[in-house]
Amino acid sequence: MARKICFINYKGGVGKTSLIVNTAAALAKLGKRVLLFDFDTQSNASIWLLRLDRWNKINANGDGAIYSIFEPGRAKVKELVIKDVVEGKAGEKLLPGLDLVPTTFNLVDLENEYNGDPKRPHYLVFYEQLAAIEANYDFILFDCPPNILRASQCGVFASNEMYVPVNPDALSLIGFTLLVEKLFKFHQLSASFRTAAMGAPAQVQGLIFNSIKAGVDIEVPKMRLQLRLNQFRTAKRAAPTAKIFDTQIRDAMVVRRAVALGLPVALVGSEAAEAGPGGDNVINDYRKLAGEIIQHGGN
Ligand SMILES: Nc1ncnc2c1ncn2[C@@H]1O[C@H](COP(=O)(O)OP(=O)(O)OP(=O)(O)O)[C@@H](O)[C@H]1O
Ligand SMILES: [Mg+2]
Repeated sequence: MARKICFINYKGGVGKTSLIVNTAAALAKLGKRVLLFDFDTQSNASIWLLRLDRWNKINANGDGAIYSIFEPGRAKVKELVIKDVVEGKAGEKLLPGLDLVPTTFNLVDLENEYNGDPKRPHYLVFYEQLAAIEANYDFILFDCPPNILRASQCGVFASNEMYVPVNPDALSLIGFTLLVEKLFKFHQLSASFRTAAMGAPAQVQGLIFNSIKAGVDIEVPKMRLQLRLNQFRTAKRAAPTAKIFDTQIRDAMVVRRAVALGLPVALVGSEAAEAGPGGDNVINDYRKLAGEIIQHGGN
């Protein structure tokens, strides 16, 4: 059974999309079969991995985007998978093993315009279709916006694990706290739709520090986050094994540049591989993070 994981925080701009895309790439490079879902109507992950020209074609009429499983409801998730999504300029496959189900801007209509069957909420419709392709993957990852509204709910409901990217600032701590509160409410609301086969509802398994500048001491924000995490663990609102991950992702210009190039950092080349202090680089950070997620398991 695939491990199903969402990356989410109620704070925007902490690096959810950068982390999930680069970690997905690192997992694929380690030989894992990975499927990434973009559940953020901003479409950042989709535009990044498809580049504008390929994404524009999908955005023009919405065919091939995730919202088409809801409206008009003819498409099925399995038909939306773009195999080995990362391509070079000539259409050559650059990263076998990383598949994408993209979104376009029409996903925003799921929030208001969509009137589904209340007995079959949107997240259940999505989950049942996902089950048909789950066996093809080792990891299924969901990039979510900074909320648990309907689009996010699809990823959260389908997941059994949740990772929370954070920056070393007070707002990340507030975002994490709000997330855990909203998550608790959503799990209550959706509990009657869960079956034993779905596994446990997602709880926070880990916090991941992102975009850490060289020489910046993060001990104080780390300690505050650890205290909050301990409280949540005691209250059973976070997984018993939840932890702050040892791996941190450094702040590196190439992470921003990779988006413009339409490539995960691991494929950007010499600039990304340039060694920083200690002979290490940001590609290694993502590789280590992928390794730590593999190790951490879904328990
Ligand atoms: N390690 C890093 N080093 C440098 N820049 C980074 C790093 N991680 C993320 N960024 C940059 O920070 C910005 C926000 O990152 P990203 O889009 O991944 O955040 P997000 O949490 O997904 O945002 P949103 O809440 O809008 O979905 C982007 O410009 C991204 O390129
Ligand atoms: Mg994002």
